[in-house]
Amino acid sequence: MSEINWGQLGFGYVKTNCNARCEFHDGKWGEVTLTTDETIPMHIAATCLHYGQEAFEGLKVFRGVDGKARFFRIEENARRMINSAAYLKMEAPSEELFIKACEEAVKANAEFLPPYGTGASLYVRPLLLGITAEVGVKASKDYLFVVFVTPVGPYFKNGFAPIDVVIERDHDRAAPRGTGHTKVGGNYAASINAGAAAHEKGYANELYLDAAEQKYVDEFGAANFFGIKDGKYVTPNSRTVLPSITNKSLRTLAQDLGLVVEDRPIPYEEIKTFEETGACGTAAVISPVGNIYDPKYDVTFHYDAPGKVSTQLFTMLQDIQYGRIEDKHGWTREIDI
Ligand SMILES: Cc1ncc(COP(=O)(O)O)c(C=O)c1O
Repeated sequence: MSEINWGQLGFGYVKTNCNARCEFHDGKWGEVTLTTDETIPMHIAATCLHYGQEAFEGLKVFRGVDGKARFFRIEENARRMINSAAYLKMEAPSEELFIKACEEAVKANAEFLPPYGTGASLYVRPLLLGITAEVGVKASKDYLFVVFVTPVGPYFKNGFAPIDVVIERDHDRAAPRGTGHTKVGGNYAASINAGAAAHEKGYANELYLDAAEQKYVDEFGAANFFGIKDGKYVTPNSRTVLPSITNKSLRTLAQDLGLVVEDRPIPYEEIKTFEETGACGTAAVISPVGNIYDPKYDVTFHYDAPGKVSTQLFTMLQDIQYGRIEDKHGWTREIDI
């Protein structure tokens, strides 16, 4: 393994020792195996290639202040993959199989888990693919489940520093009764154009409004949205938003802080009324938002970021993830490496 400069890691792919795999054939899952192969040999007519029959997850392992390694809410990721797969008529690994494959992939790559204090962590990427050769649009009978890991730094370049974002008016990431609530590749394919345009203009991410009317806030291309005002943590309730595990955790932590949690549609006009807004997700953790630009009205909503509540929430979440405070909600799962 070449020397990794943990403190300088961005959010990208770093080659590790191996990945874990498991295949579904004839109605059942096989054994989890480890392979050093970074490629997937696959039939040219596999349903994942043509019809997007694929789902994935993203979670992290943290090396704690006490030296212990911990997954954060891995059971939630397993359940979300089961939901995503069901929506696309795919076979999903059970919660137990999901966890086993993740554990094996992490254990076999222990030296890639960034040390405590570097701000980096080990990102775990489970991936589920339909691999039966089909030409008609239908579900696979065979599936491949892969888990690879890669050490990562912050998703947004400067970590817990304010980001500028832009409201996306020309593209939708998900249809009103479509796949937005699932973690499937098609949602991201639909967002690549808008994401690239946002980056070119110097924005960290794009913020989607509801696809039907553009009247309500949905989410960012790669993270959920929350706003803070009047002692409340407000986050969109929308079927086109990915149910973020970070957001779910922040809602609980916000309640712990004595905030009222409101899970409801957020009308566009409300954006200007928030004291703080933020993007949250496994990759982003919390990125406080400094400015939201709306090209339709050429208007910028500004926030003094990072705000007090976002900072408290970020600190609480990371304190649990890095084992600095008691995990009283039972969110972490130790892994012996
Ligand atoms: C579109 C989208 N929304 C929200 C999130 C955050 O979800 P989670 O907190 O489970 O990582 C992600 C993934 O990080 C995402 O890709």
